[in-house]
Amino acid sequence: MQPTLKLGNRFSVRLLKSSELTNEERDSMWAIIEHNMSTMSSQSSMGWDAEDKQKETFHSDSRFIILSVATSESDTGRSEQQGAQVIGFSVFRFDYEEGEKLLYCYEVQLCESSRRLGLGRFLMHEIIRIGRAWNMEKVMLTVLKVNTDAARFYREIGYAELQSFISRR
Ligand SMILES: CC(C)(COP(=O)(O)OP(=O)(O)OC[C@H]1O[C@@H](n2cnc3c(N)ncnc32)[C@H](O)[C@@H]1OP(=O)(O)O)[C@@H](O)C(=O)NCCC(=O)NCCS
Repeated sequence: MQPTLKLGNRFSVRLLKSSELTNEERDSMWAIIEHNMSTMSSQSSMGWDAEDKQKETFHSDSRFIILSVATSESDTGRSEQQGAQVIGFSVFRFDYEEGEKLLYCYEVQLCESSRRLGLGRFLMHEIIRIGRAWNMEKVMLTVLKVNTDAARFYREIGYAELQSFISRR
């Protein structure tokens, strides 16, 4: 099933499984992750391993909430063809840890021009909504210590720090 919701005819929101992604969607998401995270991760104790990150992101259990914007003829240079450009997404999996059913959020990523519009908040609310609908007990995620902007974002939308185990080099 691929539900699509139009937000004022500007953004489309789709929920997809890994197996349902097109190559173009994978490439677009990977480009955003690489742009947003490679330098920051290299500066952290986690380091940056592109192959591992791709495997983790596009794992067969991964689920994706993808935000796209329609690209017009003039944007693409193609006549009579309208495409969609991925502007942000979240990646999550249903998991089971220490006796608890949890929804683990692996990524929330927005391209630079689509930040501070409330889309990150929207994606995280969707994650919580899906978690509740499937009776998950918790939503968990990991934030790099060096990613202070993201830490502020999560705090602002109500996430609490559970454990601090990633340290700055
Ligand atoms: C972190 C990220 C997902 C936030 O998404 P966003 O759509 O820009 O955030 P929102 O517009 O929903 O912001 C909600 C609130 O969070 C806080 N916030 C968001 N970004 C912030 C920033 N860079 N610095 C400080 N506070 C921030 C603000 O209080 C904001 O409300 P306001 O804009 O009314 O002040 C986005 O900046 C991003 O993709 N960053 C790069 C990738 C990344 O680091 N992902 C997280 C990996 S763990």
